[in-house]
Amino acid sequence: MRSPAANAVQVWLVQLDDFLPLRDGLAALLAPEESARAQRFHFPVHADHFTLCRGLLRTLLADYLGAAPTALEFHYGHAGKPVLAEAQNPQRLTFNLSHSGGVAVIAVTRGAAVGVDVEQVDKALEVDQLARRVLSGAEREWLYSVADGKRRRAFLRFWTHKEAYVKARGEGLGAPLAEIEVQLPTDGLRARLTDRRHAGDTWALHELSLEREYVGALAVACRDPAIEQTRLTPPQVLASVPFRASRRGPRSGR
Ligand SMILES: CC(C)(COP(=O)(O)OP(=O)(O)OC[C@H]1O[C@@H](n2cnc3c(N)ncnc32)[C@H](O)[C@@H]1OP(=O)(O)O)[C@@H](O)C(=O)NCCC(=O)NCCS
Repeated sequence: MRSPAANAVQVWLVQLDDFLPLRDGLAALLAPEESARAQRFHFPVHADHFTLCRGLLRTLLADYLGAAPTALEFHYGHAGKPVLAEAQNPQRLTFNLSHSGGVAVIAVTRGAAVGVDVEQVDKALEVDQLARRVLSGAEREWLYSVADGKRRRAFLRFWTHKEAYVKARGEGLGAPLAEIEVQLPTDGLRARLTDRRHAGDTWALHELSLEREYVGALAVACRDPAIEQTRLTPPQVLASVPFRASRRGPRSGR
């Protein structure tokens, strides 16, 4: 696999169920602390999703770097953002991952901070309450101009752009989200963002193209990125997975 060119972002879309048959093989790629984390999840489905995501992340990054997936070492920022250990990363790869429901997204680029967020549109989402907390006045005005039935999705468009941005910065949801203002495009162009804390910085936002049930966005610290979105399929990772058939059948959660 070739590393992304400067200014290019490769976005890998993952349907997690596609990879369940590879679960045990992917689990074997995890570092001991990652396996320990997987075991701490209460619901097996969450443990499986974490394991699949980490295994696939290791597989993809190792492929770009020409390394073994098990050899990669992650370091963590102040709010938990994983990055590659500098000594292993001459290409200055940067990445970010998000998952929701049965979908994961992994974005990889070079030399620029990147963040992604994907959310499943959940019928139980309390839009009014959340909007008061995390949207600016102008964003709420836009939100309430949208028909009732489309409001959850509209809210999640704001939310995913903001979360992708704070993830790119390595902050968490503790960032002042209502002060980070997103202007959603009405004309097929990209959303824009204002963060008074960092007025001079350059960011590009991009809305991911996902199945109807999901909303997602990406933020990258460069001017005009070329974004390539590809669905990851099991044959693309098979060569890196030590054994293929899962010993256990698919598990379910709640
Ligand atoms: C990061 C955060 C926004 C992710 O929220 P989420 O919607 O539940 O999760 P997503 O699926 O979108 O992303 C999770 C992935 O993002 C990455 N990630 C974790 N923390 C991150 C951060 N601070 N910034 C960017 N990416 C982060 C990891 O790869 C994580 O995957 P993993 O759980 O498999 O390790 C949220 O967990 C958060 O706010 N964390 C910060 C907590 C904090 O501030 N801690 C301070 C120390 S006390």
